[in-house]
Amino acid sequence: MNRVLLAGATGYLGGFILKELLQQGFEVKALVRNLKKIVLNNQASLKLCEVEVTNPESIVGCCDDVEVVISTIGITKQKDGLSYMDVDFQANLNLLQEAQRAGVSQFIYVSALNAEKLQHLSICKAKELFVEKLKASGLRFCIIRPNGFFSDMTEFLTMAQKGRVYLFAKGQFKTNPIHGADLAKVCVGAIESQDKEIEVGGPEIFTHEQIARIAFTSVKKTPKIIYIPEWLRVIVIRLLQSLTKPTFHGPVEFFMTVMAMDMVAPKYGNKTLKAFFDELNLEEKGKVTH
Ligand SMILES: NC(=O)c1ccc[n+]([C@@H]2O[C@H](COP(=O)([O-])OP(=O)(O)OC[C@H]3O[C@@H](n4cnc5c(N)ncnc54)[C@H](OP(=O)(O)O)[C@@H]3O)[C@@H](O)[C@H]2O)c1
Repeated sequence: MNRVLLAGATGYLGGFILKELLQQGFEVKALVRNLKKIVLNNQASLKLCEVEVTNPESIVGCCDDVEVVISTIGITKQKDGLSYMDVDFQANLNLLQEAQRAGVSQFIYVSALNAEKLQHLSICKAKELFVEKLKASGLRFCIIRPNGFFSDMTEFLTMAQKGRVYLFAKGQFKTNPIHGADLAKVCVGAIESQDKEIEVGGPEIFTHEQIARIAFTSVKKTPKIIYIPEWLRVIVIRLLQSLTKPTFHGPVEFFMTVMAMDMVAPKYGNKTLKAFFDELNLEEKGKVTH
């Protein structure tokens, strides 16, 4: 069985990939920068290495006994003062160069759905610059291009809990978000696949308005939806771009762009958004009662 190096195991998707790899019997080496964030740390087939992937010296030798590298490293909500170019591009490039040096046979990288078409956004630019390096590396590679994760759909539930959901245009853009566990199966499956790029979405396609209504059903509140006009969305993006630092407006411009277009990918998995919302809602209620 291959030994897999996983970078990003402390994140939402990386956590599910780690679980899936261990369940399928892989030997895993996980690179983390904070050991306390790893949940599955007492497994015989898991080796943890505390490193800083942004510092190439810190990862020298990390790929020496490894056949496959999977990286989900990227900035989402981290507030380290680093840019997408520092992390999504350079940290992954540091890892790629180490993988090349060690003669790793395959590198699987998680980018984002449509990132190659949205390179005017700083997050997509950094990811796709890394994709170019990966394609030119000579290593066997697979680029996973997932749609939005269920973890990001919690914003709908939070708004519904507060009584109002805000949507762009008429809420008619379509998407098929995916649960981390379903996506992890695709990422691990890429080890055996010959595909070089895999676009991945969840099993159900919704309009944003349908997602809002599922969230309201889950919190048992009467739907109240506020529609934000297109001109306001454009002004807000421009203002944020000129008045705030890239570390602040980067995630917002990405979110406000993908929420104003259809984002639909081939369907995978079986986990439903309604079940995810219901589970989260029960957890929230549990926290309030206890
Ligand atoms: N969320 C979505 O809807 C979505 C959709 C499409 C694609 N993606 C992409 O999929 C990937 C995984 O997303 P996710 O939601 O699982 O993100 P996440 O939970 O934030 O996990 C990101 C991982 O990257 C690591 N990381 C971030 N900055 C780092 C740094 N400076 N040095 C070392 N490690 C660093 C994090 O480590 P720490 O835990 O130590 O911070 C974490 O392990 C990301 O590249 C994201 O852009 C996400």
